[in-house]
Amino acid sequence: MSQGHHHEHGSHGHHHEGRDAHGNPKDLAAYVAKQEDPSRDEWQKPDEVLRALGTAPGEVVCDVGAGPGYFALRLARAVAPGGSVHALEVEPEILKALEQRIAAAGLHNVHPRLVRGGDLPLPPEPCDLILIADVFHHFPDGPATLRALASRLRPGGRIANLDFHQGELPVGPGPDHKVSREDFLAAARAAGLEVVVEHRFLPYQYLFVLRPGAGRP
Ligand SMILES: C[S@@+](CC[C@H](N)C(=O)[O-])C[C@H]1O[C@@H](n2cnc3c(N)ncnc32)[C@H](O)[C@@H]1O
Repeated sequence: MSQGHHHEHGSHGHHHEGRDAHGNPKDLAAYVAKQEDPSRDEWQKPDEVLRALGTAPGEVVCDVGAGPGYFALRLARAVAPGGSVHALEVEPEILKALEQRIAAAGLHNVHPRLVRGGDLPLPPEPCDLILIADVFHHFPDGPATLRALASRLRPGGRIANLDFHQGELPVGPGPDHKVSREDFLAAARAAGLEVVVEHRFLPYQYLFVLRPGAGRP
């Protein structure tokens, strides 16, 4: 169903038309299917992404805006044994899909968690890694959200942000629903974060690993 229908919404230039309050397309079933389409691996390169994130067994991870769990399930395997993943999701219907996928995978170290609309998406405990994958462009206040997330890092913890480059691409949201690499960097700086490393192996997305800057707790 998602093959041949790459964009989250069919026509561009219609500002946020057809999207719900959380920035999602109205057809959630198709949206969920698209995010879990096996062909995503070709450009999402999940194994390389996990290596770049440097996850290790025992770590506590938060996947902010986990969707149906593309990264959350992989992260859960990467931090086992001993580690766990808090998978935060604002849309109850998508959370249900996430819960089903966790159960089907037989994983016991992923904890799905509903974020109430209007609340900041924060993990229930300090984390070694907070991943924001294809979600930053959904946040109403990017810098404030990043700042709040940074306050939920363990000492030495990191935040990773992965999102689509600006412009027309064969995958991902339309151009009117994206945050450019430069705008993300400006938001990160405004939130007091500094770049540890930028990875450039993804064809359509930028990937930053960040940490709280000097002078911050
Ligand atoms: C494009 S999907 C990405 C899902 C997943 N991270 C992935 O890479 O497959 C964005 C998800 O973020 C969720 N979302 C949007 N705003 C959010 C918020 N403030 N807190 C938590 N989740 C949010 C949406 O409901 C949607 O499931």
